[in-house]
Amino acid sequence: MNIPFKTPPFGYFPRPAFTEVVRAHLSLPENIALFAPRRRGKTTWVLLELQEAAAAWRMGFIYINLWKRRTDPIGVLVEGLEDAAGIKVAPDRELYGEIAAGIFTAGGKIKYPPVTSAETTRLSNAMTVIAKARPKTLLVIDEFQAISEADPGQGATSALRTSLEHHGDQILAMLTGSERTALTALFKRQQAALLGQARMLELPDLGKEFIANRVEGFRLSTHRVLDNDALAAAYERLGQSPMLLNDALGMMTVHRDLPLEEAVQTTIDTKGTEDFRVALAGIAALDRALLRRIAAGEAVYSDLDGLLARGAEKTPTRALVQKALGRLQKGALIEQKESGQGWVLADPMLKEALRRGSPHHHTGIDGDRDGVGCE
Ligand SMILES: Nc1ncnc2c1ncn2[C@@H]1O[C@H](COP(=O)(O)OP(=O)(O)OP(=O)(O)O)[C@@H](O)[C@H]1O
Ligand SMILES: [Mg+2]
Repeated sequence: MNIPFKTPPFGYFPRPAFTEVVRAHLSLPENIALFAPRRRGKTTWVLLELQEAAAAWRMGFIYINLWKRRTDPIGVLVEGLEDAAGIKVAPDRELYGEIAAGIFTAGGKIKYPPVTSAETTRLSNAMTVIAKARPKTLLVIDEFQAISEADPGQGATSALRTSLEHHGDQILAMLTGSERTALTALFKRQQAALLGQARMLELPDLGKEFIANRVEGFRLSTHRVLDNDALAAAYERLGQSPMLLNDALGMMTVHRDLPLEEAVQTTIDTKGTEDFRVALAGIAALDRALLRRIAAGEAVYSDLDGLLARGAEKTPTRALVQKALGRLQKGALIEQKESGQGWVLADPMLKEALRRGSPHHHTGIDGDRDGVGCE
């Protein structure tokens, strides 16, 4: 396999079984919705394995990341489709930076341009051209949840849906995203024939084999033998992110005596939480207090006075709490629980970022900012 980039010195750990599952669904044919928490390897799998598999299955392959421009996902979609027929895409090394930009919008400041009928026409036309160009094409739309906010009137969404229905024999869609509730809400609200029928798949955990593979890779490059269980525990602490585990191990190949626990902690404190620390430094004291409360598993509305202890500047009203929750959800920091009752943090690393700032250090806005955001 020709891998255009490496995760030195341990390499990419492939998911051939999952690729086969996807193949089976596509051959039914079924569109697919794939989501997993952040940094689990969705995009890398799509670009390293699915792209190659699609070629072997004699399918055209189109990859569009809606976060290519955070402020204009619909424009990205339309341009991506227009660009598309037959293009091979290399993994975008800037993707990670885009995520940080996304989290930074916790204030909910993105102003999306309205979707015009010219755009929906361009979208439909591009889909028709793609359908005619090849007998089968796999269209992957990454960060698909971005569409729901940018397209409140659902003009682009229904144009896409209609096109996919119309060209269902030629074009199969794979919609991937990171925010389960954003996707679920979208599916429910639209009750769209197409999106409702998309098969929801989860990216399987890389599992024990991956851990064993990292132990072996690490032994080969350092002659140091790590305990399987200890590495598995580290992987859990790092939110099952292969990227963060690679980072921690990479650190240990440079600093040869570094204990695993320290490498994990340093990775959490730097890579794992840096986006969040930037985001947390930029939001209101009430929003941070609510995040701490959600992280602790407490109910958000009961005991509004209790938010003071979590760092709020004054006791808020229910309306203010509601507004703050809206901001946090929009900024992809929290998600509604699957039951629809209550909230959870969108990313386990956010809890680590919050832990670094104790609410007891709170001395007004600046003091609180120091507590949360700085080394
Ligand atoms: N199977 C794997 N084996 C080894 N390393 C991996 C694997 N998958 C991902 N990685 C590492 O993790 C990094 C992040 O993966 P990727 O960007 O694909 O995750 P993602 O799920 O798309 O994240 P996001 O939701 O933030 O877009 C990759 O750049 C790579 O270094
Ligand atoms: Mg991704």
